[in-house]
Amino acid sequence: VWNGNRSVIDWQRRVYQSYGPSWRRTVENLFVRRILLGSIIRRKLAKAGHTVPSLVMVSLNTPDAGCNLICSHCYAAGHESNSMSYELLRKICQEQEALGIYQVILLGGEPLLYKRLWEILAEFPHTTFIAYTNGTLIDDQVIERMRTHLNLSLSISLEGFKANTDFYRGEGVFEQATRGMRLLQQARLPFMVTTTVTRKNFTEVTSDEYLQFLDDHRTVFATFSCYTPVGRDPHPEWQISDQQSEHLDGLVDRIVDHYPIMPSIGRNGTGRVNGCFAARQYFHVLSDGRVEACLFAHWAPAEINLNRNTILEATDSLYFRSVRAVTEIGVAGVTPCRVAASPSMAKTFQKVGAVPTSR
Ligand SMILES: C[S@@+](CC[C@H](N)C(=O)[O-])C[C@H]1O[C@@H](n2cnc3c(N)ncnc32)[C@H](O)[C@@H]1O
Ligand code: SF4
Repeated sequence: VWNGNRSVIDWQRRVYQSYGPSWRRTVENLFVRRILLGSIIRRKLAKAGHTVPSLVMVSLNTPDAGCNLICSHCYAAGHESNSMSYELLRKICQEQEALGIYQVILLGGEPLLYKRLWEILAEFPHTTFIAYTNGTLIDDQVIERMRTHLNLSLSISLEGFKANTDFYRGEGVFEQATRGMRLLQQARLPFMVTTTVTRKNFTEVTSDEYLQFLDDHRTVFATFSCYTPVGRDPHPEWQISDQQSEHLDGLVDRIVDHYPIMPSIGRNGTGRVNGCFAARQYFHVLSDGRVEACLFAHWAPAEINLNRNTILEATDSLYFRSVRAVTEIGVAGVTPCRVAASPSMAKTFQKVGAVPTSR
């Protein structure tokens, strides 16, 4: 792939150009701290029998408590309304650095509505934060602050062009989000686009027109994440078909061959997930301190809350160990995101000490 492929060379150029102002900070955080220092710490802990994730996902607020949109597909709607205390956020950041992780994904709700967002970036300059955002709140002030805090990157969420994005997110959201993308592009701040793939938008978001649109906006990373029917109002009929899922296999090659964009595909919720990283490479902290193995599996170990427990106590919990034991076998479709919402599985989750996290 890397050998003389024009689009890969163009991608390297795009990374270099768009990471212009934040280049030094990114290299230092990612390569020196996270990869070199972090792997030494993680290896030591693994020898002592612990599983240390390589990234932590943190929901700063629930959609009820901190979001300006009401998206119909939102997996997070349904969690009890709450915003994370700054003390808890600081504790998580301190612990993940001590574990050599140095990478935190910020979710919500809408992370840009979290009042003390800029404070945490300043307090932990050696951690790289990636905030998933609906993109509607990016303005000159946000851009100015991002120039100061070079340890924050944004991932803008879209569901395709105007009709599809506005169908799931509300009237006018596509325009606002793409305005945000243009501001980031003009400021030479790198960003990612995350597209939730559904049965309805499938043809559009896998089309050359959409990939060209991402390219025209100088998107550096593009993630395609399959719609998973959880949340307040799940829609199983929006999930992609097996045939569409197979079609996604070729998408990565198409992007790498023709566009200077680094792609990734999350097959969450589909029957073709074969093994997964939940509770192993990553886990999710809800804004009230409970921990989920996966964003899309709304269960948490009953006895664990990061307000009083450590990250290692969470990853060592019986529930997390059970998730790892099952996904390790690698049976297609047997993953927390697939089975967690099934009423027949409730007893199994309860047996390993887990309780539901959403209504
Ligand atoms: C819950 S949102 C929080 C961050 C921010 N408010 C946003 O919309 O990007 C995080 C990401 O999950 C995606 N998402 C929401 N519900 C989903 C679902 N049911 N299945 C798959 N992805 C989903 C969103 O589109 C977004 O990219
Ligand atoms: S997907 Fe994001 S923007 Fe939409 S309601 Fe959920 S948290 Fe808010």
